[in-house]
Amino acid sequence: MRFVSGDEAAPLRDTHVWRGVWPDFLLHDAVSNRYWSRLWIDFPDFQFFLVEGERVLAEGNCVPVRGMPLAWRAAILDAWEGQGEPDRVCALAIIVSPELQGSGLSSRMLGHMREIAAPFGTLVAPVRPTRKAQRPLMPIDDYVQLRREDGTHADPWIRTHERMGGVVVGTAEDAMLIEGSREEWEAWTGVELPHDGDVIVPGALVPVHFAAGRGVYREPCVWIEHRVAS
Ligand SMILES: CC(C)(COP(=O)(O)OP(=O)(O)OC[C@H]1O[C@@H](n2cnc3c(N)ncnc32)[C@H](O)[C@@H]1OP(=O)(O)O)[C@@H](O)C(=O)NCCC(=O)NCCS
Repeated sequence: MRFVSGDEAAPLRDTHVWRGVWPDFLLHDAVSNRYWSRLWIDFPDFQFFLVEGERVLAEGNCVPVRGMPLAWRAAILDAWEGQGEPDRVCALAIIVSPELQGSGLSSRMLGHMREIAAPFGTLVAPVRPTRKAQRPLMPIDDYVQLRREDGTHADPWIRTHERMGGVVVGTAEDAMLIEGSREEWEAWTGVELPHDGDVIVPGALVPVHFAAGRGVYREPCVWIEHRVAS
């Protein structure tokens, strides 16, 4: 197993490890869609694959930013539109190929992202907690407090970050902002959504709010900071 990045990864860029990983609606954040396809073009050294032979096992994405972004989509805006020298790296995604999830690869991926960030001193991660979708009505500030008896975090992805040296430093709203008509939401979720009000759809961390035939989803995130030294 090894990591490939930059030009060496060019032949692998259309692998799309993420295919089938995210709920469809999550692919409709306007800021993300404006820039995501340029990640490998504009920040090739901040994107990486974990490969074994020809096979892609996992993908990691991060970008250099200036100061602490407000949330996930704000980091994307800062990476492309910010002025001045970056002072930290912001994680955007770590995706393990679905058939390999649960086999311990995430720490390796996060470790490599920490190495990429080491020259900057700090990696910040607007984490999408993997178990939050099971508690869509719980405020993110309550969710982030959930710990097991041994003190480790109840959410496996936050737990992994903490085990690697990350520290929870806060939460944020509007990590992702997804807006669409009722028809679009029905197509994205496969669920009939005839009424206005708050609706829970599969894979969402919080309810989607429908009013006047339009649905708005504001996904929260948990900020985790990793101090890293080169
Ligand atoms: C989140 C993700 C990166 C974790 O990677 P992974 O290699 O599957 O996870 P690991 O095997 O290293 O396990 C990490 C922790 O999660 C737990 N875990 C893994 N899969 C799990 C599952 N399906 N359900 C519950 N817990 C799980 C593990 O037990 C471990 O926790 P513990 O050892 O402290 O008990 C991976 O599942 C993934 O790609 N998910 C889809 C994309 C995503 O949500 N990425 C994160 C946001 S960008």
